Amino acid sequence: MTSISLAISPSKSQLAMRYSDSGFESPAADFAPNKEVLTQFGAKPTNAACAKVPGPKGLTLVVGGNGLNLRDFGAVVRREAVGELTVLAHLTNQVELEELVEGLLLGGKTPTRFKKGSSEAVSFEIVVPAELMTADLTKVQQICAQIVAIRELINLPANELWPDKLAQEAKQLATGLPIEVEIWDEQKLEQERCGGILSVGKGSVRPPRLVKLSYHGGGKHIALVGKGITFDTGGLSLKPAEGMVGMKYDMAGSATVLGAILGIATLGLKVNVTAYMCLAENMPSGSATRPGDVITIRNGKTVEVLNTDAEGRLVLADGLSLATEQNPDHIVDVATLTGAARIALGDRYAGVMGYGEAVKLSLEAAGRANELLWEMPLPPELRTILDSELADIANVKIGNRAGGMMVGAQFLADFVSKDASWAHLDIAGPANNDAAPYGVIPKGASGVMIRTLIGFAQRVAQ
Ligand code: BES
Ligand code: ZN
Ligand code: ZN
Repeated sequence: MTSISLAISPSKSQLAMRYSDSGFESPAADFAPNKEVLTQFGAKPTNAACAKVPGPKGLTLVVGGNGLNLRDFGAVVRREAVGELTVLAHLTNQVELEELVEGLLLGGKTPTRFKKGSSEAVSFEIVVPAELMTADLTKVQQICAQIVAIRELINLPANELWPDKLAQEAKQLATGLPIEVEIWDEQKLEQERCGGILSVGKGSVRPPRLVKLSYHGGGKHIALVGKGITFDTGGLSLKPAEGMVGMKYDMAGSATVLGAILGIATLGLKVNVTAYMCLAENMPSGSATRPGDVITIRNGKTVEVLNTDAEGRLVLADGLSLATEQNPDHIVDVATLTGAARIALGDRYAGVMGYGEAVKLSLEAAGRANELLWEMPLPPELRTILDSELADIANVKIGNRAGGMMVGAQFLADFVSKDASWAHLDIAGPANNDAAPYGVIPKGASGVMIRTLIGFAQRVAQ
């Protein structure tokens, strides 16, 4: 038995004793000492992983079980840890070790620069069988650090994060990785006829941006498109006070595709990836887009903007048009697109809609990453309600509340080709967690779908 030490960032929660209803996993032969520890705690060693947490009151036993997977177990342990932590788990292979490490690294609170003492170091040791001693965990650690950095970005309040700032942060995070970064300012967006992004950004004194990130690993090509509204007031179709709270998270989709390409480049996957972050601040003002205005998207289609609060689909329309021009093998867009996604699926599941293989690949990748994703249909009658007298399409049907998540997806479908492999992920529910931590998800920004997209690319790269 040997151990691996990892330095990780902060956690200051209380120690707790956890026993499962069903008991503990029977320790393997080389876990025999744990059996004694378990017995000391009055626990019957039958079924589950466990951790010994040294703390102010001596040793505390944290026990997974009840079907907890290793990631969730690691995350639970992490949240209960104070100071140093020793994890004893029944690990038999590298994949299991990586899952446990992911849990330990992702389960903690997200550091914030706005609160003192939120970045105290915690170290932990994982006891592994000798054959796993040589396991290289640097990639997992790098990816987890990237996910935490993305969560920090998403948590930034809108007075600290605006389109250009987010573009610069993206460039910064990509530094040192084989990723090309192009930042399109408002002049370039005009030249490139990105009428959707420009119309959403028009009302703000902080102009819109598009960030194009390219990774050339060879092989198949995946285009990723992310909604990046650094704050969504609704524009002139202003949101009510309560509805506006939390709208700093409306850039989570763009942060997710950023996190994905960082991870893919870190792993050096044999796949080409282009990520488009469509960034704007949706504000009401004398220069803002008015309800009823008609705008022209990058692909030449005109949109009657009947509700300026349905802005995500307008910025994504440009991003999806740009992606489509490249004729990639798969397109995936990620967005906090609709409040309706939360009504339909709650706060933990993301919804996936689209065409072809990309939907299946997303669902499978989510399953492997242990992220919650649910397929929704693309009913054709929800496209016809967007027909406009004045333009090619309207961005909403006024007065319609039925199937809002799918209506949003149907709008986006106009900007990808019918034979494309395309998945649209609506993460309005799980992008932010207002409730207690669950699994590897802390309070605040969750970073969901980053690991799913990395897994998607891993599968396509095979
Ligand atoms: N950013 C919101 C969606 C949202 C709502 C995300 C709540 C996370 C939590 C989006 O831009 C929006 O306002 N959508 C409208 C669409 C409607 C006008 C068709 C909505 O959901 O009300
Ligand atoms: Zn909106
Ligand atoms: Zn929005």
